[in-house]
Amino acid sequence: RSHPLKDSLLRPMRDLRLSVTDRCNFRCTYCMPKEVYGHDFAFLPKCELLSFEEMERLIRFFVSLGVEKIRLTGGEPLLRPGLPGFINRIRSIEGVEDIGLTTNGSLLGQQAQPLYEAGLRRLNISLDALDPGIFGRMNGRGIGPAHILEQIEYARKIGFTVKVNMVVQKGVNDSEILPMADYFKERGVTLRFIEFMDAGNGNGWSYASVVTKQEILELLRKAYELEPVEQSYFGEVAQRYRYKDSSAEIGFITSVSESFCSSCTRARLSSDGKLYTCLFAGEGFDLRKLLRSGADDTHILNAIVEVWERRADRYSDERTEQTATNRNKIGMSYIGG
Ligand code: GTP
Ligand code: 5AD
Ligand code: SF4
Ligand code: SF4
Repeated sequence: RSHPLKDSLLRPMRDLRLSVTDRCNFRCTYCMPKEVYGHDFAFLPKCELLSFEEMERLIRFFVSLGVEKIRLTGGEPLLRPGLPGFINRIRSIEGVEDIGLTTNGSLLGQQAQPLYEAGLRRLNISLDALDPGIFGRMNGRGIGPAHILEQIEYARKIGFTVKVNMVVQKGVNDSEILPMADYFKERGVTLRFIEFMDAGNGNGWSYASVVTKQEILELLRKAYELEPVEQSYFGEVAQRYRYKDSSAEIGFITSVSESFCSSCTRARLSSDGKLYTCLFAGEGFDLRKLLRSGADDTHILNAIVEVWERRADRYSDERTEQTATNRNKIGMSYIGG
């Protein structure tokens, strides 16, 4: 292409976040509250999920339009059988520079080794607390932190670069900020503090429930000396800091207090093949319908180009208490964060 693809706010398309399943074995209160995702919740039937072949075909279009980074998400991506083979296929696509996977870590015991052998090197693992009571309540299933910590150690031993994601909610797990920082600093693992977001509908979000980057940083600076680290590429999501007396890093994902929409280069594809141009979008473009109607390459490619060229999303720049409650948004577990 002679002109690189840009959206209406001149943002290129660099990353594809690909959800491979809408299911999860956890029920995190901020993502899949049990009251919403109960026994009778209608998850997608298998026939509506894109096959790996369909995903691969789409990935090739996205890569030809500028995507370099692929992130696999869920729900919980390790619930989708056959991931290692799929990763091996993605890896062989020319232009794919980086593949990451975001997981709750619970199933790594069986899968970390095959994933590594397939060529995956980066894992972002969610863990919100070291305290068993707090973590068990937050994951909605009473799962203890010890099991996840073991999986993290195991993955690192195999050779993975692991980052830990902690969603911080006021009055819920802010008491865990220092213990978590301490634990992962000691082990040289990057810990990222994620500001609680008003994702989906009905996760109880309000501004009052957010602990901001500044608040966390202030707390940490009472215990540690920290210095900012330059961003390593355009559009990096996390703001990074380094401990002065260690090589360990922390990061902040500040969607609420310092939104980063102006450099948002991420396209999102749901497991049923809808293309979303924002985490907080209401509607997506049905690529599965095109794929299954027998559309040719040019047709599908043009559809993606049109969606991206029209893109004007900047939800986090515009967020108010009103948009948070009144707008209809897709679920975090459906689109993978
Ligand atoms: P790497 O930097 O490549 O390791 O991954 P990442 O941090 O982009 O991905 P990850 O899945 O670990 O996401 C961490 C947090 O950032 C999650 O809570 C995501 O929902 C959030 N996040 C990622 N991209 C965006 C975005 O475009 N907008 C908003 N608001 N949040 C995002
Ligand atoms: N706010 C912030 N982060 C969230 N995640 C899921 N729901 C929310 C939310 N409401 C995080 C998960 C995981 C990542 C993909 O998104 O903890 O680390
Ligand atoms: Fe599952 Fe991750 Fe959502 Fe928790 S945050 S319910 S682990 S998809
Ligand atoms: Fe991108 Fe939407 Fe997140 Fe803004 S809110 S950074 S546009 S995904």
